[in-house]
Amino acid sequence: MNPKKASSNNVRILAIETSCDETAAAVLLNGNQVLSNIVASQIDLHSKYGGVFPEMASRQHILAIYPVVEEALTQAHLVLNELDAIAVTRGPGLAGSLVVGMNMAKALALGSGLPLIGINHLEGHLYSAWIQTENNSPAQPDFPLIGLIVSGGHSTLIFMKDHLHYEILGNTLDDAAGEAFDKVARLLELPYPGGPSIQKAAEYGNSSAYNFPRARLEGSWNFSFSGLKTAVLREVQTMKNSGITIPIENLAASFQTAVVDVLVEKTLQSAEFFHARHIIIGGGVSANHALRKAFIEQNKFTITIPPLKYCTDNAAMIAAAAYQHFVHSRNDSLDIDVMPNFPLTSL
Ligand code: KG4
Ligand code: ZN
Repeated sequence: MNPKKASSNNVRILAIETSCDETAAAVLLNGNQVLSNIVASQIDLHSKYGGVFPEMASRQHILAIYPVVEEALTQAHLVLNELDAIAVTRGPGLAGSLVVGMNMAKALALGSGLPLIGINHLEGHLYSAWIQTENNSPAQPDFPLIGLIVSGGHSTLIFMKDHLHYEILGNTLDDAAGEAFDKVARLLELPYPGGPSIQKAAEYGNSSAYNFPRARLEGSWNFSFSGLKTAVLREVQTMKNSGITIPIENLAASFQTAVVDVLVEKTLQSAEFFHARHIIIGGGVSANHALRKAFIEQNKFTITIPPLKYCTDNAAMIAAAAYQHFVHSRNDSLDIDVMPNFPLTSL
């Protein structure tokens, strides 16, 4: 057995994340101290198409992956053989994008003899809550906990009674929260990505101008946002047909409030139901100011919402999750493949 694997101290993991439109690499010490965190975003490339163009995303990852990994090592002041493992996002995500990160990770593992650890992207979003922030403030999440992941592809509620133990309570039945932000932004003719654009427009709007539907789906922990999206679409169409100027700010603010209400309500209900001691939030939508404010203002549960840079896609969160696998001596063979629909499973 590799003696390094038995220890949970001084563990340095280089992680690579290329599941969508960010080429990212990071080095973490002991799963929570960030030695480097590099993200090359492709937003400018995709914004003219109003969404991620998969073929272009994978080509851009190919161009960016080497310099991004090199920069992550340089900023961490480390060379490959000073590391303990190479981690990589295995899925879910875009196949052509995932493959670029996977091949780079395999090449590094093969060349160095280091163990390779394939990580589920959602697991990464959960583990972003364990990354130490600059001011070191929030306490380590305490089990049992409820995790809410709200991203471009997921709205998922998860119960964790311990590290690497995931019980999926609910998912979105249709659009993910981020997807709803992106689609509503498009119909309000706001730029991609929709989340930040809606947030900006909403700052100047009245959040009670429209009483949009909240799908509470009583008796389940699932979410649904397509009815809400359709309600916004109908308002816009009616106004367009009548030649009325579209009140973008009010529509954005009312839509955002409806999403936030449902996410906060269901998360708090589930935390109460499962006697959680902590709530953690992750994924791109957790960067949303209104959502963060609503969670911070509740006073029933201790809550960890990562800083913005660890909410959207990054590799630090992949290294944080990989650390837990490393200390449990789990690693993968070099012939693992990417899994675009990789399910989140417990160790
Ligand atoms: O986690 P992420 O970076 O990538 C995925 O794993 O999907 O999430 C991207 C999603 C996009 O839908 C984007 O519109 C949304 O997160 N997002 C936001 C905000 N920032 C990013 N949604 C609402 N408010 C934001 N400030
Ligand atoms: Zn993500």
